[in-house]
Amino acid sequence: MKTRAAITGVGGYVPEYILTNAELETMVDTNDQWIRERTGIAERRLLKDGRATSDMAVAAIQDLMAKKALDPKEIELIICATVSPDHVFPATANIIADKIGATNAWGFDLEAACSGFLFALQTGSKFVEAGTHKKVLVIGADMMSSIIDYEDRNTCILFGDGAGVVLLEPDTAGNGIMDAILKSDGSGAPYLHMKAGGSKNPASQETVKNRHHYAYQEGRTVFKFAVKGMADVVEEIMVKNGLTGDDIRYMVPHQANKRIIDAAARRAGLPDEKVMLNIHKYGNTTAATIPLCLWEWEHELKKEDQLILTAFGGGFTWGSVFLRWAY
Ligand code: UT7
Repeated sequence: MKTRAAITGVGGYVPEYILTNAELETMVDTNDQWIRERTGIAERRLLKDGRATSDMAVAAIQDLMAKKALDPKEIELIICATVSPDHVFPATANIIADKIGATNAWGFDLEAACSGFLFALQTGSKFVEAGTHKKVLVIGADMMSSIIDYEDRNTCILFGDGAGVVLLEPDTAGNGIMDAILKSDGSGAPYLHMKAGGSKNPASQETVKNRHHYAYQEGRTVFKFAVKGMADVVEEIMVKNGLTGDDIRYMVPHQANKRIIDAAARRAGLPDEKVMLNIHKYGNTTAATIPLCLWEWEHELKKEDQLILTAFGGGFTWGSVFLRWAY
């Protein structure tokens, strides 16, 4: 049977500090009811004490390695999806490899904002399918608190910090990643981006003064594109693979807004109990939302369960992945 890349283990980490809606009420002009009704978020986790994205990824990998009794020297490739790398360079994947002792691995970062984990999963799966790599780590990790303006109520209520990781290994039993549909549209860039810090607007006193090193979002516009983009791409992958809602054990959506998730689930014909949802606890952790869902629901998943993963985010980037759980 065809060799596919299967997820054979999951690890996760969220920081201890809980930023509640009540605390946000003391920081910006907002209120708990508005945040809950418009987004579904009640609290999110924040990383403190000078730690960085790689530290959360390492904690998630340690969780995975303990469960799998995995020797870091066996890992061949590390792909880290993030928009909040430790540094512009070198890649956070390299820093992670060093910290966990993955001395036989090469690695790189991949940036596709909220769709980063899906883009990285599809990329990693190709190395496994090609037969060149047998143990690949795919990480989604973001310390959004490092790029969020806690004076901007449009964005600071939405985001949190966290990291998730999956191990990809070859599968010849008919499970693993079955299909993926991924999309990009750069004309969406103005609606969700960071204005400065890249080669177009390098850091200067001016960019700092203008608060241009934070995530900027036109929420209403992104919301409209996200509802349509996510629902369309979920429908597309289900039709392409002859799936109905009855065939799906869980939809695993990027956690940006509960209303976006509900719209995609309705279109896919999926009741609430078939939708992984933890946005109320963690908010939007960008590349980490999907692996953090898999981490939380891992104990409920059974071999051959069919899952649809889906995301929409900055870029714009969006997509869906159809997979069959392998353990
Ligand atoms: O993961 C990456 C992709 N990102 C997303 O998918 C996010 C997509 N966008 C969204 O989730 C939503 O657009 C938001 C949650 C960001 C905003 O919700 P909305 O229903 O689109 O609200 P809005 O921006 O249309 O604002 C409605 C009202 C405005 O007041 P007026 O103009 O009607 O008087 C805002 O000023 O709510 C006001 N508002 C707030 N009020 C209390 C905006 N932010 C807040 C706030 N607290 N934090």
